[in-house]
Amino acid sequence: MKPSIAVLPGDGIGPEVTAAAVAVLQSVRSDIEIREGLVGGAALARGLTPLPDETRALCERSDAILFGSVGLPEYDGRPLPERPEYALFLLRRDFELFANLRPVRVFAGLEAASPLRPEIVRGLDLLVVRELTGGIYYGRPKEQRRVDGVDEAVDTMRYRAPEIERIARVAFDLARSRRKRLTSVDKQNILETSRLWRRVVNEVAREYADVRLDHLLVDNAAMQLVLRPGDFDVIVTENMFGDILSDEAAILTGSIGTLPSASLGVRGMACPFGLYEPIGGTAPSLAGKNAANPTAAILSAAMLLRHSLDDDANATRIERAVERSYADGLRTAELAGPGAQALTTPAFAAAVQARI
Ligand code: IPM
Ligand code: MG
Repeated sequence: MKPSIAVLPGDGIGPEVTAAAVAVLQSVRSDIEIREGLVGGAALARGLTPLPDETRALCERSDAILFGSVGLPEYDGRPLPERPEYALFLLRRDFELFANLRPVRVFAGLEAASPLRPEIVRGLDLLVVRELTGGIYYGRPKEQRRVDGVDEAVDTMRYRAPEIERIARVAFDLARSRRKRLTSVDKQNILETSRLWRRVVNEVAREYADVRLDHLLVDNAAMQLVLRPGDFDVIVTENMFGDILSDEAAILTGSIGTLPSASLGVRGMACPFGLYEPIGGTAPSLAGKNAANPTAAILSAAMLLRHSLDDDANATRIERAVERSYADGLRTAELAGPGAQALTTPAFAAAVQARI
């Protein structure tokens, strides 16, 4: 049977970078069936919900989701269920995409683009493993209310031991396949969820004697990431800490437009169902100009091949072609220095295809 993927371009630069990624994907695998669906602001603008039933059904029929980005400033004042981001919130929860992998790499030739000194980021290669379906994003109660005449709001950070255990295993397994170092990030000096987190991670660690585990408090981790990023291999952390730290880690590379991600579920861990997306967001100011960097989307497509279609060979071909494009000096606008030539989104994708 032909593999099929649901392509959900979404808002802002989503449609442009997703089109670039699909072009690259099709140049290595012509057998994949591609079907598009509406999501986020693109769905809201047509009078639909952020995740229309038809789009959800399309995802259910597919082997994986290639996602663009969602979120537009015009919806900022609305309650969560009426905002584009709600689509991601639902997809992650309903497909149980609990394991979010965010690899952070500095490509050779891009060291100078980092806000840190080149010698600190050269060869940087770390992986943030973020728990994605628990914690303060999903805990109940979650509401705004009026108590004794005063407005208040509550979010609930809640974790159950099995949720921590399964993400810890994903992180330990990945560390084992890399440099065998795992840093678990929590706030155990204050938060009960973090005390449980640390205990469970330590229990799982007994099965991974070959992986060196350490623990950092999240405030310290934020600092160490800019002081000595090269010392990290795999970082595992809960949902909100992972959201924040992965943006911080991403900018170490010089452009958030180069960072892919995979959100993996439980449907048989050998070839899990997953959602693959750039971590950078909609970048409304760049939208419609064909100026966005499609690297993150292209690398997300590579991760899709590797994790959901069990096609490591073609994933690696795409990744090498992206590396060669940077080594050859090709740049999109945000990375091209003043006076240097900037490629458009489709031109960058074409350059990658030419190097496969
Ligand atoms: C991310 C994003 C999302 C998150 C938003 C868009 C809901 O920031 O994937 O990191 O907070 O998880
Ligand atoms: Mg984020």
